[in-house]
Amino acid sequence: MIRKYCYGTPFETEAVTASISLSTQQPAFGSISLQDGFCFSLKLSPQAMVFGLGESNRGINKRGFLYISDCADDQNMSENRNSSYAAHNFILVSDDDTHTGLFFDYPGTVRFDIGFTRTDTMTVTCEQADLYLYVITGTSDLDVVRQFRQSIGRSYLPPKFAFGYGQSRFGYKTPEDFRTVVRKHRENHIPIDLLYMDIDYMDTYKDFTVNEEAFPAFDGFVREMQKDHIHLAPIIDAGVKIEKGYKVYEEGREKGYFCRRKDGSYFEATVWPGWSHFPDVLNKDARKWFGDQYDFLISKGIDAFWNDMNEPSIFFSRESIAKFKDYLHTYMEEDNPGIRHFQLMKELFSLANSHEDYQRFYHNADGRSVCHEQVHNLYGYNMTRAAGEAFERLSPHKRILLFSRSSYIGMHRYGGTWTGDNSTWWSHILLNLKMMPSLNMCGFLYAGADLGGFAGNTSRDLLLRWLALGVFTPLMRNHTASNTREQEVYQFEDIQDFRAVIEVRYRLIPYLYSEYMKAALGNDMMFKPLAFVYPKDPIARNTEDQLILGDEIMIAPVYTQNAIGRTVYLPEEMLFVKLSGSLITHREILPQGVHYVQVALNEVPLFIRRDRCIPLADPAECVPEIREESIVMLGYEGASYERYDDDGISPL
Ligand code: GLC
Repeated sequence: MIRKYCYGTPFETEAVTASISLSTQQPAFGSISLQDGFCFSLKLSPQAMVFGLGESNRGINKRGFLYISDCADDQNMSENRNSSYAAHNFILVSDDDTHTGLFFDYPGTVRFDIGFTRTDTMTVTCEQADLYLYVITGTSDLDVVRQFRQSIGRSYLPPKFAFGYGQSRFGYKTPEDFRTVVRKHRENHIPIDLLYMDIDYMDTYKDFTVNEEAFPAFDGFVREMQKDHIHLAPIIDAGVKIEKGYKVYEEGREKGYFCRRKDGSYFEATVWPGWSHFPDVLNKDARKWFGDQYDFLISKGIDAFWNDMNEPSIFFSRESIAKFKDYLHTYMEEDNPGIRHFQLMKELFSLANSHEDYQRFYHNADGRSVCHEQVHNLYGYNMTRAAGEAFERLSPHKRILLFSRSSYIGMHRYGGTWTGDNSTWWSHILLNLKMMPSLNMCGFLYAGADLGGFAGNTSRDLLLRWLALGVFTPLMRNHTASNTREQEVYQFEDIQDFRAVIEVRYRLIPYLYSEYMKAALGNDMMFKPLAFVYPKDPIARNTEDQLILGDEIMIAPVYTQNAIGRTVYLPEEMLFVKLSGSLITHREILPQGVHYVQVALNEVPLFIRRDRCIPLADPAECVPEIREESIVMLGYEGASYERYDDDGISPL
């Protein structure tokens, strides 16, 4: 049962697609105060668990911390960070026998204090009391999620090739850079389907351009890659470079499609291309226009994209840099400026992505002028919506791979998400795992992290262990920053270990694709916390480093350095299997309980639930080469599995 409540004059985010009539009474769950903005508060019983919040920090159970929905380009996702690149305002309070979902449909900053200030109290606050609140009650946690998912519309369906392995690096510049990556993978028989093109493929970081000096015949290059079964996925950034004669800039200005300051002039800030404007993707016409620009690449044979810098990320604006210059001037005039060194650093670091800048520009949201700050969390969503809506027109017969860095619930209908710039930290393997079910609760099924870590230098074992988790995530992409150690798997010794892990991915694609599609078509979760599947088992309820995938398997990656394995908790008897390349290196029925399982660096462990089985193909070097005839069932004798399959490309 979903109830919808309205406070003030909400901005229509179009996150919810179901038509739900407004309740006239106040919610029976928690209490609401409208005295100073909006504040929802709820007493939490000692045993209550709180789930949700999609791409957010810390645990699967969100209790004990303050989470702030405020999309931010900040790559330091350390434990004390309150915000992430995305804002997913759905939470689920799971108590003894009550299961209640709450969706705060508010596009500005929302603070979720989940037992942080007071351990027994949850408060959710929004600065303005202008929002819709949805309260969902159900018979189980999963039931609540399914109802919520149904109300927000079907999750994005990627093409099947999007389940292939992809290689990326900030810094590939020339066709030769890409050819080398393909050659090395093919020579070493390491499966691969996707190559990601970071900003250097563009002409001076201008969206919808190609550096023609480096790529004199881009169409031919796309075809050359396709012959090798490689899909190129170029990046598209939110900021449009201000440059006379650049078509996208000229056209956007002429049509008035960029965000403006209060006085009507166009807002200017720097991002990768230097001084840029931001397309007003909250305006229907501007959104259509921006989406149409993707045709520049689609018409050249491109069928995959990633949308970036769309929080939107701002290095500094005309206004903020002028203010900083004044500050610096005064600072240098002081007798002993070094004394206030920390103040100087603070001023410098607060230039990027500042709320002062977000207050400086406005959207023409179909006739309504709205300050960006009030709708900040909708930018990445609507940039991706622009692309997703355009693909329906530009590519009506073929699904296109699309994912975005920033998002809000609603965007899950148009594309997937990657979790932004992470680090080469072991703790980020675990964070990657924990985000998966939370993202699924909010509709984001096509998701994954930068495997190996984006910032910093990876190590061989970190990359192998992370890949062994990435084997299961719909997006399986190795990506790293420009100033880091080379991270392609062939840069490390004993390449065969990497081959063995990535081959397991391809063996599992028939299963993973099936589970993905079932979850998308049935408004279900592909990754579930153990708490959802074994709600009466107190240990399972508190296990946060293992997940249930589909209905058949449990995954439990190794995420500590130098470990020869890990401890797992089995809520029921399971078949423990280790896969390595074409081999099944271990197969053993383990009883319910705690076990220490050994896992070598070239093995992928998984646990098949009692009386279940999964399809397993022979290894292949790319998705189209997965042989249907090679599929066998792996699991319990006599078990059966209903597999979903389709042509992997036609839109449904
Ligand atoms: C951002 C993205 C990262 C990309 C870089 C350059 O930091 O998150 O993935 O490599 O920009 O485009």
